[in-house]
Amino acid sequence: MARKNPPVRGLEGVVAADTSLSFVDGQNGKLYYRGYDIAQLAGKVGYEEVAHLLWFGDLPNRNELDTFRVELVANMQLPPQVVELLRMSPPNANPMVVLRVALSSLGLFDPDGGNNAPAANLRKAKRILAQVALIVACMRRLHDDKPLPSADAKVGFAENFLYMLNGKPPDRIERQVFDTLLMLHADHGLAASTFAARATVSTLAGMHSALTAALASLKGPLHGGANRKVMEMLEDIEKPRMVEAYIEAMLASGKRIMGFGHRVYKTEDPRSGHLRKMSEKLCSRKGMSRYLDMQHRIEKIVFERKGIRPNVDFYSGTVQMALGIPKEYFTCIFAVARTAGWIAHVLEQCADNRLIRPTTNYLGGFDRKFKPIDSRT
Ligand code: CMC
Repeated sequence: MARKNPPVRGLEGVVAADTSLSFVDGQNGKLYYRGYDIAQLAGKVGYEEVAHLLWFGDLPNRNELDTFRVELVANMQLPPQVVELLRMSPPNANPMVVLRVALSSLGLFDPDGGNNAPAANLRKAKRILAQVALIVACMRRLHDDKPLPSADAKVGFAENFLYMLNGKPPDRIERQVFDTLLMLHADHGLAASTFAARATVSTLAGMHSALTAALASLKGPLHGGANRKVMEMLEDIEKPRMVEAYIEAMLASGKRIMGFGHRVYKTEDPRSGHLRKMSEKLCSRKGMSRYLDMQHRIEKIVFERKGIRPNVDFYSGTVQMALGIPKEYFTCIFAVARTAGWIAHVLEQCADNRLIRPTTNYLGGFDRKFKPIDSRT
């Protein structure tokens, strides 16, 4: 059948929404959050300042930040049934699957669960952001059979999250690096997971459903799941001198190198530049220079052979590992960070909603003759 109107594969270049939230400038390798170049924000603002910027349009002043912080910490509580669900999950389950199930289950207990009014959505936004981080921390503490420290309203979101996750207070450098890692992942245009969130909420299914859809999408290795795959590749390569042969063999067999390439960036992903520097800062301090050496070699050979550069997922794993986070949780950390962006997109979609319902190019034929079941061969 002739394809009258061929689809745009992967919807590349298709404009599917207006947004004021973030802009991925693929030609110049820049990322903007509500008009701010992330290069201006990295290392200078905390994650919750960026969440405030995305949700409310402006960076908070001191009072607004203090209030927002207190609200987020106050929301760091989970219904006991959700804690029980985490406790009952198989010990070897993929944490992204557990997180998806747990986030979905939060909707059962949320006092605003069925209420999609703007004020209710804002209350849910603050609850969900805090609870998603808490689920990830709780999951790890339960897995390691260790107690979960309580959040402290006097410190920021990133510091609380890392403390609860690792069970020990981070030092100043760890805190700053983690904060920056979270803010660099906070939003990124219409990524697959963000599209899933917007499409889901456009049916009026509600915020928990939209974020569950987003999480499901983020898990895949072509999206957020790549950070864990990068670490598995580094472990597989083992030694810096093995890099060239390993990468050559991967490319020769047509395999993708995880953490490289991007749909929109035609030059360096600006987030990877920041993460490379953070990784360099932390890895030598933590005796992880071997990984860094391998990464530099991989970067060089992949660029020479394919002309593609690292994306956000290439260095984020080594940064997280240096912060004491096991690789199984890398994509969950990405998910916590992106929750601010997903929520911002959900709020933006709700403010001017129309059902997202594209169409297809039908290739299935017509005029087939029906046969009763006993006449079918
Ligand atoms: N390794 C080897 N070759 C690659 C890679 C890679 N990682 N990425 C793209 N290419 C090649 C691809 O083979 C193709 O080459 P050719 O034209 O010779 O066939 C060309 O580059 C274009 O690839 P594409 O599949 O059309 O690009 P896309 O825009 O559909 O895919 C991508 C984008 C991110 C899925 C892809 O680059 C990829 O699979 N990367 C590895 C997975 C990864 O790191 N994902 C994280 C993405 S960024 C963060 C996030 O969104 O979570």
